[in-house]
Amino acid sequence: MPFDPKKFITQSVEQIRKAIGKEQAITAVSGGVDSFVAATLAARAVPGQLHVIYVDTGLMRKNETDEVRKTAKALGVELKVIDARKRFFDGLKGAGDPEGKRKIIGELFIRIFEEEAKKSRAAFLIQGTIAPDWIESGGLGRDTIKSHHNVGGLPEKMDLRLCEPLRELYKHEVRMVGKELGLPESIHQRQPFPGPGLAVRIVGEVTEEKAKIVQDACFVVENEIDAAVKAGKMERPWQYFAALLPSKTVGVRGDERAYQYTVIVRAVRSLDGMTANFSHIPSDVLEKISTRITNEIRSVGRVAYDITNKPPGTIEME
Ligand code: XMP
Repeated sequence: MPFDPKKFITQSVEQIRKAIGKEQAITAVSGGVDSFVAATLAARAVPGQLHVIYVDTGLMRKNETDEVRKTAKALGVELKVIDARKRFFDGLKGAGDPEGKRKIIGELFIRIFEEEAKKSRAAFLIQGTIAPDWIESGGLGRDTIKSHHNVGGLPEKMDLRLCEPLRELYKHEVRMVGKELGLPESIHQRQPFPGPGLAVRIVGEVTEEKAKIVQDACFVVENEIDAAVKAGKMERPWQYFAALLPSKTVGVRGDERAYQYTVIVRAVRSLDGMTANFSHIPSDVLEKISTRITNEIRSVGRVAYDITNKPPGTIEME
């Protein structure tokens, strides 16, 4: 039977209401479709008991904090923005291992949620976890591919009870629910963004400098691919972004030797993120992306296009 978003919404609102009872709950939006859908369902289920927050980790998309503020305002959601940039950069100092980074981020999110929950006397955390998140985090006896920050990245001890209304859904189903809920297309059709943010697009240790590089590079990739899609040159990939390698290579700028970073451009076709094929981007679009990245980001001297499918690769680098 095909997935029925209307029916799902009715059932889910009822289930959330039952789970939360008379307690207060907090939920965090990240700007992505999953968290906005979960927050909207929760707002329908327990209005007046819900506290919506947005954590600025410093590892979000360019201009994301302003965008989230605007969307929340348009949806009539009262939003509390928490500036946690220093906390995340300090916490990630010296951490190079992908799973270690994910655990640090998961833990920091929960500690911040707990602090906010205390202020609003909330007993529940409503999260937009979807099926691939827990499947890839080793759910139901599967191997852990990566600990999604909202599942395997959670600390063992936490003071909040979880409520995860989208747990059984895949991304395309979440999009259908978002559309049915009346969310703007810019949200329900938005490309996925990983919970740990740009940290999984920076291979190795995260620094503020690297976060800025990858943020600017992602912006260029999104810009150019959006323009190419609009011009009818290619179909919209499922996900498209840039990542940063930790090593530098030699190049030239003007007449001088330069020693600069390498950016990887990634674009994939997928239905649910569980498997993916790299997108065939027209060469003129790739060239424009490369030229813009090396011109606009002076510390990047090389751009490569990732032609790996999943498997054996994953969509994100870490
Ligand atoms: P991978 O890299 O595992 O990504 O092929 C599959 C999809 O999941 C996103 N992703 C995450 N989403 N928390 C999330 O909410 C995470 O920790 C996480 N890690 C990866 C990724 O962007 C892709 O859409």
